[in-house]
Amino acid sequence: INDQKIEKLLSQMTIDEKIGQMCQINGFSGQIPDKIKEEIKAGNVGSILNEVDVKTVNEIQKTAIEESRLGIPLLIGRDVVHGFKTIFPIPLGQAATWNPEIVKKGAGIAAQEASLAGVNWTFAPMIDIARDSRWGRIAESFGEDPYLVSKMAVASTEGFQGTNGSLFSNGKIAACAKHFAGYGAAEGGRDYNTTLIPEGELRDVYFKSFKAAKDAGIRTFMTGFNDLNGVPASGNQFLFRKVLREEWQFDGMVVSDWASIHELISHGFSSDEKDAAKKALIAGVDMEMASSCYKNHIKELLDEGLINIDLVDDAVRNILRIKIELGLFEHPYVDENGQGEIGEKDIEKAALEAAEQSIVLLKNKNKLLPLSTKINSVAVIGPMAHEKYEQLGTWSFDADSLLSITPLEGIRNLLGNAKVNFAKGLKYTRDKNSDGFKQAIKVAKSSDVVVVCVGEEAILSGEAHCRARLDLPGIQKELIQEISETGKPVVLIVMAGRALSIGDVYENADAVLYAWHPGTMGGTALANILFGKVSPSGKLPVTMPKSVGQIPMHYNHKNSGRPVDPNNWSSIDKIPVKAYQTSLGNTSHYMDEGFEPLYPFGFGLSYTDFEYSDLRIETPVIAGTAELKVSVLLSNKGKCTAEEVVQVYIRDLVGDVTRPVRELKAFDRVKLKAGEAKRVSFTIPASELSFHNQQMMNVVEPGKFMLWIGGNSNADLGAEFAVK
Ligand code: IFM
Repeated sequence: INDQKIEKLLSQMTIDEKIGQMCQINGFSGQIPDKIKEEIKAGNVGSILNEVDVKTVNEIQKTAIEESRLGIPLLIGRDVVHGFKTIFPIPLGQAATWNPEIVKKGAGIAAQEASLAGVNWTFAPMIDIARDSRWGRIAESFGEDPYLVSKMAVASTEGFQGTNGSLFSNGKIAACAKHFAGYGAAEGGRDYNTTLIPEGELRDVYFKSFKAAKDAGIRTFMTGFNDLNGVPASGNQFLFRKVLREEWQFDGMVVSDWASIHELISHGFSSDEKDAAKKALIAGVDMEMASSCYKNHIKELLDEGLINIDLVDDAVRNILRIKIELGLFEHPYVDENGQGEIGEKDIEKAALEAAEQSIVLLKNKNKLLPLSTKINSVAVIGPMAHEKYEQLGTWSFDADSLLSITPLEGIRNLLGNAKVNFAKGLKYTRDKNSDGFKQAIKVAKSSDVVVVCVGEEAILSGEAHCRARLDLPGIQKELIQEISETGKPVVLIVMAGRALSIGDVYENADAVLYAWHPGTMGGTALANILFGKVSPSGKLPVTMPKSVGQIPMHYNHKNSGRPVDPNNWSSIDKIPVKAYQTSLGNTSHYMDEGFEPLYPFGFGLSYTDFEYSDLRIETPVIAGTAELKVSVLLSNKGKCTAEEVVQVYIRDLVGDVTRPVRELKAFDRVKLKAGEAKRVSFTIPASELSFHNQQMMNVVEPGKFMLWIGGNSNADLGAEFAVK
């Protein structure tokens, strides 16, 4: 039926109306300008982005439906990235939950809130593999690992769109897999920069999450700003025609990133707007965001025979299809007083759970945490302690920041005002004025324990907000140092849009909780963890480097011909002051920072002690088409109920192309009471062991594999299996 409707509409459309569908223009905050109204009436607009006033959206739709010749409704797009009104942790924090269900719930809530404002399409999830914390957009990503990112890609797709054909039922919106492809590998972590990624690596690492989202039914894809191997993504036929359309048979819609078709000119890939329009359309980009190359030049390109009308028709088909699937022709308007199915209390609960599960306990010297609620007094100090907006993180345009609960408020709500002493110490994280230190020290001295909230404001990460240094901005380090000199126990809470390299301040803290930007319920989540209402269970979705110079650093690297020998490496401290070409191992590492990160991928402590034992490989030899079955005994040896993320890693020992030293292949979040033990089982399809060989064939090669199960990527409980 959809196809018939598409063909019928297409047959009625003029060339200008077809081109109109392929154009997306920016919103106007409220009042629709007359000029735009005329464009909509003329059928020159297919979509609007950044318009979230429900009345205006209804008026826009009314103009399109009642006053344009064919009455085609518009797609209303918005970056609903980690919440709309209620903000969930930034995606990097959501990845730290290792809980796809909670990610799905969060996306579902975001979809509901956004749809009530008239939005029917989100530019999310961002499922780029991100391995460089200098890149500001790592905040929006699910981290460094293709398997984890793929699971989160599926979860958020299903959350935004619904599952199993319930696609776009009430309260659901279309999702967008972005940015296809490779954008996360921007050179030096500088946004918009060049990426050079060999095809095998593209297919085995960077495409995986996109393929997973496609298989989960995602309806739109967005191009990247990046130059990929010399061909900018927005003009890249290999990406969109060959891989996405031909190989994956994607029948949804592709939108460019903001003005990225026009930017083909700056890339030196197109001579002018006309050439840019031609290359983008030939590459398979259906809709142009923000710039006007399609609007101004497609007709001319057709008239001159430089492109075929089939290309235009196909693009328009893809756009109309999604409008039909969204039900926009039948239900174009939004109830201006509409209420979602999910009530406020449930929304709050979901945001709280997401924040609680995203927080990673990195250090807990002498089991300082959890603190007792019977404590007499707590000092809450720091520039991130009471910042309702900043804790929400990047892409929180539509947030109701007044709803957000800061760590100070969370702790006060739990302990009562009288026990909590507050001093900011610094006005903001980059502040270099230490005038506030005196008050902070006074407050610290008069309290039993000090909670110091540091990090980065929202604006320090996100698009175009890259950093060359990854330490704490400003003089936060000095503030922590002075507080630690009071001798009071110090709990550090770090809120940031990336994995900061803060090895140097860890020494001055007894406990460290890494909270990312935790969103609306961040303060309550932190208080619940600080005082033991919940045991921390977040695990790092990225490797945390000791210093910026260690980047690139990811756990699933290759071994090299000279892997480091942990017992014989040339630490700068071991080298004599005057020596002639001293050799200490001659292996691949830095003399000054060594070979280990500050914390490995997958790391995160708990208030209990989990023990892993009795690893069993139930299928020690499998066929390349079979399933690998493994299990482990997980025991809670501590004194409290807690959740653990059990992680399974493998290594293919020899390959036609070299294989990473470890690859995540399965995980599960398991809750155990104190003293409880449980056998945790995994079934891994052998196809998960595949990779692209020298001929670019996706193969599972016979041979030996190692497997480890544990609580982080350094897990040492291992065994062998083989593929025959
Ligand atoms: O969705 C975003 C994209 O990720 C970056 N450029 C702008 C788009 C629309 O806001």
